[in-house]
Amino acid sequence: MRDATDVFSEWAGKGKDEGMERGHAASVEEMLDLALATNNLSQRPFTAIDIGCGNGWVVRKLQAIENCQSAEGVDGASTMIEKAKCIDPEGNYSIAKLPQWLPKNPVDLIHSMEFLYYLNDPISMIKIIHDEWLKGGGVFVAGVDHYFENKDSLQWPIALDVHMTTLSQQQWRDAMENAGFTNVIITKTGVKDGFIGTLTMLGTKQ
Ligand SMILES: C[S@@+](CC[C@H](N)C(=O)[O-])C[C@H]1O[C@@H](n2cnc3c(N)ncnc32)[C@H](O)[C@@H]1O
Repeated sequence: MRDATDVFSEWAGKGKDEGMERGHAASVEEMLDLALATNNLSQRPFTAIDIGCGNGWVVRKLQAIENCQSAEGVDGASTMIEKAKCIDPEGNYSIAKLPQWLPKNPVDLIHSMEFLYYLNDPISMIKIIHDEWLKGGGVFVAGVDHYFENKDSLQWPIALDVHMTTLSQQQWRDAMENAGFTNVIITKTGVKDGFIGTLTMLGTKQ
């Protein structure tokens, strides 16, 4: 199977990152609203990271929020990061293959859209995010469109020739709770006709 970061580097080269941005926008909008309403995040100065940031569009969305002190992005696809830096030369974007990278400092908000299941072990990544990436009181929100209950998505690994770890809604919940997150919410965002919705997980680090 092909490496996901190679595939998405090619996508960025062909401009397909922009279609992804449009396709993911409705879910991300709801995910950010949920996260910012958690633990008074939007009422205090906060720092944020978008994991698997693609061309960096969510980083720039975060930077535009009044109380956001800093937002950075990390992705393993070189062309995605080149594109992010081209659009936003002052922005903080790192190229790195995860999970082998850690932020310099833990932050208040970790966001991730359509990234986790490309990992061989997303359950361990959720634990690392909890233990190493977040400050106490910090919030993690992630969305996945490939999950067991979304039957339309089960063909994607073959269609794309890319590894995807297929977990059920309950397995994602267990991963969040076993990582140590409290007040875990599992919900759907971006629901519309013909789309079951982005499985969205949210939790707080105590
Ligand atoms: C479906 S795209 C989503 C991009 C962006 N979050 C968005 O919503 O437009 C998945 C992203 O995860 C990145 N990715 C996948 N596996 C990765 C890994 N092991 N390390 C770093 N990035 C990875 C890909 O390069 C790609 O940009």
